[in-house]
Amino acid sequence: FFNNQTTPDLKDKKVVITAGPTYEPLDPVRFIGNHSTGKMGFDIAVEAASRGAGVVLITGPTSLRITHPAVKVVHVTTANEMYQQCHKFFSSADIVIGAAAVADYRPKVVADQKIKKNDEEFVIALEKNPDILASLGAVKSHQFLVGFALETENEIEYAKSKLKKKNLDLIVLNSLNDKGAGFGKPTNKVTFIDKDFNVFPQELKSKEAVAKDIIDQIVKSYAK
Ligand code: CTP
Ligand code: CA
Repeated sequence: FFNNQTTPDLKDKKVVITAGPTYEPLDPVRFIGNHSTGKMGFDIAVEAASRGAGVVLITGPTSLRITHPAVKVVHVTTANEMYQQCHKFFSSADIVIGAAAVADYRPKVVADQKIKKNDEEFVIALEKNPDILASLGAVKSHQFLVGFALETENEIEYAKSKLKKKNLDLIVLNSLNDKGAGFGKPTNKVTFIDKDFNVFPQELKSKEAVAKDIIDQIVKSYAK
C-alpha cells in the first residue's frame, strides 16, 4: 500500500516552531501584547508533524491547543522566555521556523504592585527585546532557518534585507495589502524569498494551505 499524499518527507527531522504573540508585563495585571492568534504557527506544526517530523512548538499566550503525539508544546509568555526556549532546543533542531509575533520592545520597569492612576499623562519607557531569529542565525551550523516578515511598504526589499540581516535560509513575506490576509483572519497571502533572492509569490489561501506550501518550499530549498 502506497499513498503519495502521506509521503513522510520530514521523517526523522526535528522542527522547532515559534507561534503566537508575546506578552510583556507592565505590572501584575497589565501587559503589552499584539493581536497574533498563533494559528499560522500551529498549522505549520500540525503540517510538519503529519509529514513525519518531531516538532517542538514554542508558543506565546493563545487559546489554541494541539494534541498531535509528535508535537511537544512549550508555553512561554515573554520574548525573553521564548528566546531561552528557542536556544535550548536549537542545537538538536534541523529546521527552525519563526512564526511568532515577538514584541520588539518591553516595559523597562515592571511594577511589583498594580500601577495606580494619578497624573493626566502616563508615559511608559520601553527597551528592546532580543531578536530571537537573528540570535539563532548568528550561531547556526546545520540548521535551516525560516523567518516571517510583516511589511506595509517596500515589501520585497525589506523582506530581503531581513533575510540577510538574520542569516535566514528562507523568508515568508506576509502581505497585509490583501484584505483577507493577516491577524485574526483564516487566510494568508504570502511570498517566499529564498537565500538566493528568488521570489515566489503565492495565491491567497487558507492558513492550513499556506502551512502546506511553506513545508513544501522548505523541503525544496533544503534539498538544494
Ligand atoms: N522576530 C524574532 N524576534 C524578535 C522580533 C522578530 O525572532 N524580537 C522574528 C519573527 O518571528 C519573524 C521575523 O523575526 O519571523 C520578522 O519579524 P518582523 O516583526 O517582521 O521584523 P523585525 O525584525 O522585528 O523588524 P520590524 O518589526 O522593525 O519590521
Ligand atoms: Ca517586529
